[in-house]
Amino acid sequence: MTSTIEAVAALVGDAKRIVVFTGAGISAESGIPTFRDPLTGIWARHDPEKLETASAFREDAALVWGWYLWRRVQVAQAAPNAAHQAIAQLARTREVTVVTQNIDDLHERAGSADVIHLHGSLAQPKCFACHRTPAALFFEEPIASEGLRIEPPRCPRCNGKLRPGVVWFGEDLPAVAWKRSVLAARDCDVLLSIGTSGVVFPAAEIPIMALHAGAYVVHINPAQVAQPSSRELCLIGRATEHVPALVSLMMLTDMLPS
Ligand code: OAD
Repeated sequence: MTSTIEAVAALVGDAKRIVVFTGAGISAESGIPTFRDPLTGIWARHDPEKLETASAFREDAALVWGWYLWRRVQVAQAAPNAAHQAIAQLARTREVTVVTQNIDDLHERAGSADVIHLHGSLAQPKCFACHRTPAALFFEEPIASEGLRIEPPRCPRCNGKLRPGVVWFGEDLPAVAWKRSVLAARDCDVLLSIGTSGVVFPAAEIPIMALHAGAYVVHINPAQVAQPSSRELCLIGRATEHVPALVSLMMLTDMLPS
């Protein structure tokens, strides 16, 4: 059974602490492809093993660096959508922690502060050899097309190759981001899980932890990604359809005399 948006708005409206947990689906309507959607997802056309592993970088650093520059171009050309904006708006009246699996910066550009990036960020390259992040942010000329091989720049300290500061398959999540996410999940009243297939662990443990700690979990997704129960609810549909509507309904309710 799916929930009505009014029921979810009442639930979220009563919450003091909210965690918003997002995946690729929230940025899909900004033009950034998801990973696993069958026709449009990134993995429908590319092999993750060849692009998003340390061994792929060792084998062909130029291919991997070019791939991430292309993804940076896609992100630079994208704008936050109504769902990102509504989440930023929610934080004006509630304590909201945004935990994202996305490596784009669309939450920040919509106005969300202190976003936790569980899978790293495209904006912060680090050295493959010494693991340091260069002090000055590194900017490349945008490239216009996908699939170009571009040699990565060198680390100013040790001359190692710079790699994107994202989590690759087989790598640990950033420790501080993980710890903060776990604390927020265990301490929230409601977790909104938006646009994620929930199949990549350990990130996918975050909503489960919230549920086990007694919170309500609301999934917003065009696909049925969970079986609804008394504390797990589903709003089936696009993020830009449900998230702004949910926040508007809550704002209206806040204005009513109690
Ligand atoms: P997926 O590609 O696995 O899932 C995207 C989800 O978004 C699916 O459940 C879609 O149904 C949903 N979706 C599509 N369009 C949507 C829309 N307009 N509104 C809301 N939802 C929509 O992406 P993630 O769950 O983010 O990891 O994938 C998790 C991780 O897998 C990524 O962070 C990445 C990838 O490997 C790393 O890079 C480490």
